[in-house]
Amino acid sequence: MPKATHSPEASEVDSLLKLVTSRGAIEFDHEREGAWIEVIRKMDEVYSDLLRYEVDLEHKNAELEEAQAFVTNVIESVSDILIVCDAKGSVQQVNSAFQRTLGRINDEIVGKKMADIIDAADNAKLMSLLKPRGTSDVVDGELRFSTDGGSSDLFAINSSPRHDHRGRFIGVVLTGRPIGELRRAYEALHKAHHELQRAQRQLVEQEKMASLGRLVAGVAHELNNPISFVYGNIHTLTRYRTAIVAYIDAIHGHTGDDDLAALRKKLRIDDILDDFGPLIEGTMEGAVRISEIVKNLRRLSFSRLGEVERVNIERLINTAVLWAVRTKNVRVDVQIEVDPGLWISGNEGQLHQVIVNLVENAIDAMRSTASPRLVVSAARRGNEVLVRISDNGPGIHKDHISHIFEPFFTTKQVGEGTGLGLWISYGIVREHGGELSAVNEPNGGATFFFLLPAV
Ligand SMILES: Nc1ncnc2c1ncn2[C@@H]1O[C@H](COP(=O)(O)OP(=O)(O)OP(=O)(O)O)[C@@H](O)[C@H]1O
Ligand SMILES: [Mg+2]
Repeated sequence: MPKATHSPEASEVDSLLKLVTSRGAIEFDHEREGAWIEVIRKMDEVYSDLLRYEVDLEHKNAELEEAQAFVTNVIESVSDILIVCDAKGSVQQVNSAFQRTLGRINDEIVGKKMADIIDAADNAKLMSLLKPRGTSDVVDGELRFSTDGGSSDLFAINSSPRHDHRGRFIGVVLTGRPIGELRRAYEALHKAHHELQRAQRQLVEQEKMASLGRLVAGVAHELNNPISFVYGNIHTLTRYRTAIVAYIDAIHGHTGDDDLAALRKKLRIDDILDDFGPLIEGTMEGAVRISEIVKNLRRLSFSRLGEVERVNIERLINTAVLWAVRTKNVRVDVQIEVDPGLWISGNEGQLHQVIVNLVENAIDAMRSTASPRLVVSAARRGNEVLVRISDNGPGIHKDHISHIFEPFFTTKQVGEGTGLGLWISYGIVREHGGELSAVNEPNGGATFFFLLPAV
């Protein structure tokens, strides 16, 4: 009987050996032969498993190498710089774009503190790029690196945090691209823009000067007429004065009654006395018109906004409309539709003048309208306030619509309008950041409107 051993395979082998040594020949017992074959089969199996594992491993290794080469190739090919840092701000890995930027090889950079490879002036910016933070918290910044030649170009840097599998902050990945060139281009653009703005202002100024020239010519033309009749009247008054002086002298010289009557007739004293009234009235009117023109011209200082304040639209419209309607002294159905609580920032006096001008024009336009109706409204449109003044007059003649904002354009009788109202109003609205426009309503009448930024 074979002695008992720790494993059945070992005991089978043992018994076989004993058989060989005791009989001098190998005698295979069928049961034992089966066990032996089983052992060999198992060994074969294990061996082939091992071989398979090895082949698999080699395969995986090749794949891993390929993947690593791919990643390295990608990292090396990107033109952006790439720096991997640990939580303490030491460099762990960089790509060749960064090596080229610094003019140093990988081994000279890895292990260095970030603070030692950047421009000393950018330390504070570096702190915020390296600070520990949550997963998706990307921080932007700008850095210059210290190179052998001094300082590198300016780089726009993105810093993304890295975390381990337990979510602990283990450092950052910095990527960056040079923006010096971009910055310079932007500065050049900015300068060019400024130049352009200056040129534009100059052009506007020139245009303003030209229109001032037209204005002065217009003023001269406008003043010429009233001045001429003031002069004419004064000449006549001088002649009349001579006559009256002669007459008075005669009275004081005790001339006879008949002589006196003859002289009175000869000197046309009665006509003179009749003429005195209209002459003086005409002279007055001329003087008033001159003063009106001069007053309007003095208002032309609208290129400066002057005192800017918060203006309540409701109050502005109510007082200006009331004022204009009262001055015109006509019966007009006035409808005011103003949203409450609308405020704009501007010069109240000038805006008052705009509304008064527009309302006076509307009332003038409705002079022959059977039932004149004026609608003044103000409403909010987003961040702006829309003011509209509508009338049911004849509307603006289609040939005039492109001229109504020109200085001295008027369709009114001499003495009734200077043609400056809309021009001045247009300038004031523009100075307040808006634009004054006019349209004819489809069913008659004109609407003037402007938008101003609300506060
Ligand atoms: N609501 C309106 N309907 C029709 N035409 C108008 C209206 N408002 C203005 N106009 C036309 O525009 C012209 C120019 O207006 P503007 O206010 O500049 O000058 P004016 O009223 O003639 O004179 P001023 O205002 O200097 O006394 C007017 O003469 C008129 O022909
Ligand atoms: Mg007017």
